[in-house]
Amino acid sequence: MIRINWKHAAVALAVLPFAALLFAWIGFFNVGASTGHWKITDWFLHFAMRSAVRTYALAVNEPERLPVEAIKPAAGHFARGCAICHGAPGEPRSPAAMNMLPRPPDLSYSVGEWQDAELFRIVKHGVRFTGMPAWPTQNRDDEVWAMVAFLRALPDLDVGSYRELAYGNAGAPELHTTSFGGAVAECGRCHGADGAGGGPATPLIAGQSEAYLAASMEAFAEGRRASGFMALPAAAVDAAEIDALAAHFAALPPQRHDAGQEVAQDRLERGERIARAGVAAAGVPACLGCHGADRNPLYPRIRGQRPDYLAQQLRLFRAGQRGGGPFSHLMTNAAKGLTDEDILDLAAYFATQDDPGR
Ligand code: HEC
Ligand code: HEC
Ligand code: HEC
Repeated sequence: MIRINWKHAAVALAVLPFAALLFAWIGFFNVGASTGHWKITDWFLHFAMRSAVRTYALAVNEPERLPVEAIKPAAGHFARGCAICHGAPGEPRSPAAMNMLPRPPDLSYSVGEWQDAELFRIVKHGVRFTGMPAWPTQNRDDEVWAMVAFLRALPDLDVGSYRELAYGNAGAPELHTTSFGGAVAECGRCHGADGAGGGPATPLIAGQSEAYLAASMEAFAEGRRASGFMALPAAAVDAAEIDALAAHFAALPPQRHDAGQEVAQDRLERGERIARAGVAAAGVPACLGCHGADRNPLYPRIRGQRPDYLAQQLRLFRAGQRGGGPFSHLMTNAAKGLTDEDILDLAAYFATQDDPGR
C-alpha cells in the first residue's frame, strides 16, 4: 500500500505555484505558435471551449426566426471583418491566418456543428486567447443574429452568389483604396452605387439630408451610434471624406422603397393618425412635428424609407439603444411610449409616403 506523507504533500502543494512562477519567469514555456500544441493540450482547449460555449448558450434568448432580411449587410461585413481569417467562397484563408494557433476554421464546413444559440454566443463575445474577436458593439443583438443567419446560408453559397451578396453587382472594390471613387465603391457594396441597395434592412441613403448623413457617420465612427455593420466603414474614412461622402449620397436622386407587399388599410390609417397627432395618453408626440417637410436638416427624411429598417430603428430608440447626432435624445423620448403594433403601423405608413420636402 502506498502511504501518503501528508506533511510532504502539503509542502509540495505550497511550493508548486512558486515553481510554476519560476518556470514562467525563466521563460522555459514555449509560447511560439510554430510548433503547434501537444495533441492533449489541443484536445483539452477545444473541449473547454466547446463546453463553455454550450453552457453559456443556454442563457441566450433566441428570436422566433433568424432575421434573413439582414443577410446582405451581414455578408458585406463578413467580407471585411471575418473572411481575412476564416476565408470565404472563392477566397482562401490568408497565409497569416493559416499560421495562427488555433487556426481559424473554414466556416463553410464547421458551422453545421453548432446550434444557432452557440453561434450567437461565439460571434457576440468572441473566444479568448484565440484571436476570435467579439462583435464591435455589445448593444446590437439584432446584428449578431443577422450574422448567424448569414453563417447558416454560407455552406450553400457558391462563389458567384457569395460575391453578389458581399460586394453587390459591381464586384469587389479594392481593399486599401485612397481614392474618393474607391470609398464610394466601398459604401456601394452594401448601399448600392445609387444609394438604394442592400436589401430590406439597409437604409436608403440617396437624397437623405447631407447634414444628417455626415452627423450619422461621425456618430458611427465615434461609437455614439452602435452598429457593428457601420463601425468598420465609418472608422475607415477621415473627417474630410465623411463630408464629401455625405454630399455625394445626398445629391443622388432620392429613391422610394419598392413597396412589394400589400399593407392593410387600417394599419396605414392608424400609422397616419399617430404620425399627425401622436398618442397623448402614452406621451408619444406627433412625428410630423419633426419629420415633416420643413424640418431641421439634422432630422432625417423618413418618408419612403424601408419599413423593416424604420421598425428596427424605432425598437432601438424605444430601448434606449440608438444614439446618433446632437438631437437623437429627442427621438429617444418620442419613441418611449410606442407599442409593437404602433411601430409596425408607423413603419408601414411612412414607408408608403412620398416626401414633399426634398
Ligand atoms: C483575427 C482572426 C479572426 C477574425 C477576424 C474572426 N475570427 Fe472567428 N475564429 C477565429 C479563430 C482562431 C477561431 C477558433 C477558435 C477556437 O478554435 O477556439 C474562430 C472561431 C469562430 C467560430 C467557431 C467555429 C468553429 O467551428 O470553431 C465562428 C462561428 C466564428 N469564428 C465566426 C466569426 C465571424 C462571424 C467573424 C466576423 C465577424 C469572425 N469569426 C472573425 C479567428 C477569427
Ligand atoms: C457592411 C455593409 C455596409 C457598408 C460597407 C456601409 N454601410 Fe452604411 N449602413 C449599413 C447598415 C446595415 C446600416 C443600418 C445601421 C443600423 O442599423 O443602425 C447603415 C447605415 C448607414 C447610415 C445611416 C442612415 C440613416 O438613415 O440613419 C449612413 C449615413 C451610412 N450607412 C452611410 C454609409 C457610407 C457613407 C458608407 C461608406 C463609407 C457605408 N455606409 C458603408 C451597411 C453598410
Ligand atoms: C422632437 C423631434 C422628433 C419627434 C417628435 C420625432 N422624431 Fe424621429 N427623429 C428625430 C431626430 C432628431 C432623429 C435623428 C436622430 C439621430 O441624430 O440619429 C430622428 C430619427 C428618427 C428615425 C431614424 C431614421 C433613420 O434614418 O435612421 C425614425 C425611424 C424616426 N425618427 C421616426 C419617428 C416617429 C415614427 C416619430 C413619431 C412617433 C418621431 N420620429 C418623432 C426627431 C424627432
